[in-house]
Amino acid sequence: MEIKAEKLNLAEAKCDLLVVNEFAGIKVPGGGTGAVDKALGGMIRKLAQEERFRGEFGETLVFHTHEKIPAKKVMVLGLGKRDDFNLDKIRKLGGITIKKARDLKAKNVVTILHGAGVAGLDPADCARSLTEGAMLANYRFLKYRKQEAKKVDKVDVSDLTIAEINAPKIKKIKKGIELGEIESRGVIYARDLVNEPAFHLRPKDLVEKAKDISQGKGSIKLKVYDRIELEKMNAWAFLGIAMGSASEPYLIHLKYIPPKAKAKKKIALVGKGLTFDSGGLNIKPEKGMSEMKIDMAGAASVLGIFSVLDKWQPSVEVHGIIGACENMPSGSAVRPGDILTSMSGKTIEIGNTDAEGRVTMADTLYYAQKQKPDQIIDLATLTGAVIIALGSNITGIMGNEQKMVDKLIEQGKITGEKLWQLPLDKDYEKQLESKIADLNNIGGGRSGGAIMAGLFLKEFVGKTPWVHLDIAGTSYAEKDINEYTPIGGTGVGVRLLLHYLKTV
Ligand code: BES
Ligand code: ZN
Ligand code: ZN
Repeated sequence: MEIKAEKLNLAEAKCDLLVVNEFAGIKVPGGGTGAVDKALGGMIRKLAQEERFRGEFGETLVFHTHEKIPAKKVMVLGLGKRDDFNLDKIRKLGGITIKKARDLKAKNVVTILHGAGVAGLDPADCARSLTEGAMLANYRFLKYRKQEAKKVDKVDVSDLTIAEINAPKIKKIKKGIELGEIESRGVIYARDLVNEPAFHLRPKDLVEKAKDISQGKGSIKLKVYDRIELEKMNAWAFLGIAMGSASEPYLIHLKYIPPKAKAKKKIALVGKGLTFDSGGLNIKPEKGMSEMKIDMAGAASVLGIFSVLDKWQPSVEVHGIIGACENMPSGSAVRPGDILTSMSGKTIEIGNTDAEGRVTMADTLYYAQKQKPDQIIDLATLTGAVIIALGSNITGIMGNEQKMVDKLIEQGKITGEKLWQLPLDKDYEKQLESKIADLNNIGGGRSGGAIMAGLFLKEFVGKTPWVHLDIAGTSYAEKDINEYTPIGGTGVGVRLLLHYLKTV
């Protein structure tokens, strides 16, 4: 699908589907929609009344133009109340447009730019959001459904054109489309990795992805540590978890250096990279295990971000650090009651082999901290408890630096990614005590599980300002979450952190 902006009068646009809009409660359409209505001899007004179209958000009214204008069909999209209109609504409208166009088998779609008229939003932001909504809604994982993929090709929209007559506005819209495309490509990169089953995505495949990303890009460097090197580094927390698997573990370290100016700051992004989590010897029940190919979603988001960093070009140095391994039960697996000595020197009693993510992250976070970054942000499908607490559409955020937490929550409002802070309460720390090691990898009981995991991670970042995103619930959609987040991997965190990197 190609998305573009053109100097074009809506009423003169030749296309299969022309998209215009209306706020709730408006009787006489104005602006671009008004002009189209006029060209159609008042058809929009007439049909809206007949069909009781009220302009509620997401409501649609579709009709044939009978060649009164060059467009074959018109779709009026409801924008809802003007006061609640925002960028995420535009993203959703982009999604609705693509889905409706597919249903109608419309190949060429021309649309008005929602939000840039009476709502008064910046045209570049509106175009960016519309692009994201359209591209992300258009995503499907059909790699293993070749027949279905062929069918889908036939109904796919081939081009979506934003029509505008004001030349300076067109320039802004083009910039917005470009940014929206970069962000969406990053999200889609992450979604593809999350959706890939563990049979086809081993730790070494994540290494291959990192190689692909760094190859031929002067601004991105890669260092990969294999098991032998990690043994020399005493990364026994990470290696201990990896021991049950027949697949070799790797620590991946990507580094982006801004090509133009000196970096303002150094940010480390750390992703949990369990290509499969069976639970280990504390094996998961049938229901809990079936989705565990997604346990590398944190790593997927880090790779998704890196896949577009050379185009996004933030002015900060970015480090992407991933511990890629698999948690399997076998004769060589780590056992409950074992003690692992982490890279930091702290010893960890394995109370439960299924709380493996925090143990691998003990070493990857410690390694990140050793790079002396100004900030660390980690993304991890860390706990089932965060899903109980916040459900599947809100990411749990915690950290040791409130300013960073606040800023990320703020950025989430712009990118449409919901975050809710959980407290890293000091009084809970004693639950991580062990009688035979420095720490236990599980807290006392089942309560406060997401916080207990966060408190465990905090032990390994030292004084570095750090934020932890528990994406166990938000990285995978069991059913469509919204108009632009279909079933499967969501790529959560990619847009959030791309935006964050431009604010620090
Ligand atoms: N990978 C899981 C967390 C998870 C659960 C991710 C559901 C995505 C969806 C993690 O390694 C895990 O198994 N955590 C345990 C910890 C417990 C043993 C303390 C959990 O949350 O049950
Ligand atoms: Zn687990
Ligand atoms: Zn896990």
